[in-house]
Amino acid sequence: MQGDGSQISCSGSSADSIALAPTTPNPAGSISRSHDRRPKTTAAPALPDYLVRHYWWAYLWRPAVWFFDHQPIIDCIVFGQYTALREQTLALLDGDQAGDTLLIASAYGDVVPGLARTVGPDHLTVIDVAPIQIERARNKLLKAELASGVNLALMDAECLSYGDDRFDSSVFFLLLHELPPPVRRRVVSEALRVTRPGGRLVLAEYGAETDRHPFHRWRPLRWLFGTAEPFLPTLWALDLDRLIVEQAAALGKRAIVDAHSTVFDGFYRINRYRIEAA
Ligand SMILES: C[S@@+](CC[C@H](N)C(=O)[O-])C[C@H]1O[C@@H](n2cnc3c(N)ncnc32)[C@H](O)[C@@H]1O
Repeated sequence: MQGDGSQISCSGSSADSIALAPTTPNPAGSISRSHDRRPKTTAAPALPDYLVRHYWWAYLWRPAVWFFDHQPIIDCIVFGQYTALREQTLALLDGDQAGDTLLIASAYGDVVPGLARTVGPDHLTVIDVAPIQIERARNKLLKAELASGVNLALMDAECLSYGDDRFDSSVFFLLLHELPPPVRRRVVSEALRVTRPGGRLVLAEYGAETDRHPFHRWRPLRWLFGTAEPFLPTLWALDLDRLIVEQAAALGKRAIVDAHSTVFDGFYRINRYRIEAA
């Protein structure tokens, strides 16, 4: 099992790098008509250690998954801001411009059906490393009658099984704060690798730490956040734009923030980066 993110193997027959068997029919519907978005490899990925250790109670344990994946519950967890987060993410993504879109990690609530409506089911791929989360996403899409066309894949975001520049857009919805810093860096790099020049990366995330927001200032609350979300303090302290720009440069690309909005007085942010060839 890998530790809290210091090592990973992405190549060969590593179980980390894989998705649903491409030769089996996509349980959620058909494969993209524009081009084959199916991953190249076939074994199931191992669950990352940080997920098993720190987030089993939120994303892996079936009773909890059932409990949290109710709209009012997930809305409470983000202090009543879910609709704003979803709508501003979808607005920055812009369905007319989004093209083939990769959601990197599924999410609770109705953002997955929202994305399918926004970009068109045939243009959406959703990956997640946890089988139960792929199952939830599939069920929500089926209920919304949007499953046909959406590609769902079991895959580790650290080792995406897609070729370079495969997608027009990639999206993170509240994923990055849950990752240990080395994993966060690799996940960002993978997203940038599979996003083509001319495309965009959109992310919804906690905002940077301020000395102004009461939730940043009030120590008991900070302690609570840091206990429930052990990697959130590292995200608060991080210059996220810089990380993205640096990871893009390492891939011979440029990432330029071209749209930005905040929710809940900056406690959350939504950023859009235009990706270009360097
Ligand atoms: C997107 S984040 C948090 C979303 C937010 N709390 C919500 O549900 O609205 C949670 C998801 O990330 C997934 N995840 C975590 N690490 C991952 C990785 N390395 N690769 C793919 N999915 C991952 C988890 O399985 C889980 O489904």
